[in-house]
Amino acid sequence: MIKISPSILSADFANLGRDIERIAEADYVHVDVMDGLFVPNLSIGMPVVSSIRKVTQKVLDVHLMIDRPVRYVERFCDAGADIVTCHVEADTEDNTLRALDLIHAKGKRCGVVVKPKTPASAVLPFIDRCDLILVMTVEPGFGGQKFMADMMPKVTQIRQYIDAMNPSCELEVDGGVDCQTAKVCIAAGANVLVAGSAVYGAADLTATIRALRG
Ligand code: DX5
Ligand code: ZN
Repeated sequence: MIKISPSILSADFANLGRDIERIAEADYVHVDVMDGLFVPNLSIGMPVVSSIRKVTQKVLDVHLMIDRPVRYVERFCDAGADIVTCHVEADTEDNTLRALDLIHAKGKRCGVVVKPKTPASAVLPFIDRCDLILVMTVEPGFGGQKFMADMMPKVTQIRQYIDAMNPSCELEVDGGVDCQTAKVCIAAGANVLVAGSAVYGAADLTATIRALRG
């Protein structure tokens, strides 16, 4: 089953509760956390995750685009995240492994994320303990960018790693996903699709979420 994780980066932050109700058809809620260091943009932090937790039962899929996320993962779990993902580029291998263990110790799901220039093999040190791997299909930092179709061989390579090494691990893509590019991602092996502008820019959000599933 294909799961859809709308990114609230494209929602109206003054009406976040309403905009989360509008994606009732979705599987997850994708929350983009940016620190202005790991990526050249700032977004939201733990207090907003806590507030979202109070208004939805949905799985909160928290994408940490922050430097040395090991410093914060427990606080995001306590704030109500269900899945917390850390970029492999954001710290040493040892610290990333420790971050994943801290998330699991909180009873939550964990994962790693790879930026476009990072090779598929970068997930190998972490794959056995990941519940989800996220492949960026844009440079992280901003919504509304163009989908990078040249990331699809990497998605297929990581799908092969997952099938061989940790078959229950989910494979998510993030960036520029719309009803056309979604098909390409699914064909390459993704099973969770993040979509920000394609969902929140649509007139009919429910129909768009269904169309994204294919
Ligand atoms: C980018 C974020 C994405 C972004 C996706 O740094 O990680 O989740 O919100 O937005 P769209 O779907 O508009 O590319
Ligand atoms: Zn994201």
